[in-house]
Amino acid sequence: MTKQDEIAVFDSGVGGISVLRHLRRLMPGERYLYYGDSANAPYGSRSTREVRDLTFAAAEKLYREHPVKALVIACNTATAAAVKELRQAYPERIIIGIEPALKLAADHFPGGRVGVMATEVTLREEKFDLLLHRFDESCAVAKISAPGLVELVETGRADSPETEALLRPILTPYIGALDALVLGCTHYPFAAGTISRILGPGTVLLDGGEGTARETRRRLEAADLLEEGPGRVVITNSAADARMLRLSRKLLEQP
Ligand code: DGL
Repeated sequence: MTKQDEIAVFDSGVGGISVLRHLRRLMPGERYLYYGDSANAPYGSRSTREVRDLTFAAAEKLYREHPVKALVIACNTATAAAVKELRQAYPERIIIGIEPALKLAADHFPGGRVGVMATEVTLREEKFDLLLHRFDESCAVAKISAPGLVELVETGRADSPETEALLRPILTPYIGALDALVLGCTHYPFAAGTISRILGPGTVLLDGGEGTARETRRRLEAADLLEEGPGRVVITNSAADARMLRLSRKLLEQP
């Protein structure tokens, strides 16, 4: 493995681009290979077994086809379903996952009221229960699911009237009731504008993207694998259509 090898960033679709943005900001000199599995998205309503198989297939493909120095699973759902087994299968590899940023919420709002919005798989997995038990004494946590939101982001409608129509009934009961909302799916930060508009300025939105980028840098630094540049980003997608690649680029460059 060399410093010039790639950081592979994987998600069920375009959501992981929200993590890639943090990675690029923190380590602009790296060579990134993004792989979104939009042909099989959404993962969040599948069985755990299916998500695990899809995640393994993606990791194997990336390792087979590219010189990968670190694999970032930029998907809470895939991390919840597969990261443990993936690390067991590839003990010599650097594999970084993402989980809902409950620690961040508990640190910022001790004793506070926190919502976690994530996919069905993430919210039902044991990994999430373990995370919840670490923090449910320091804050009151509400689990919120938003079926259909990933599909809107995948079709370029993250901040659209349809998103507003989907989210308003889901979030209305929480208006004025949350100090923080954790966006526990990497697709959701792209809908942050709509979410904030509904919940109002009293609720802070948090996500695990920056923490994941910092952890990736820590792991690469420890292995003496940090690269100084020039950096680049290559985006690939299993849906292999030009529209998906255009949307990914747009989300990556969006301010
Ligand atoms: N982006 C993924 C996550 O962070 C899930 C999206 C999906 O359901 O495919 O959980």
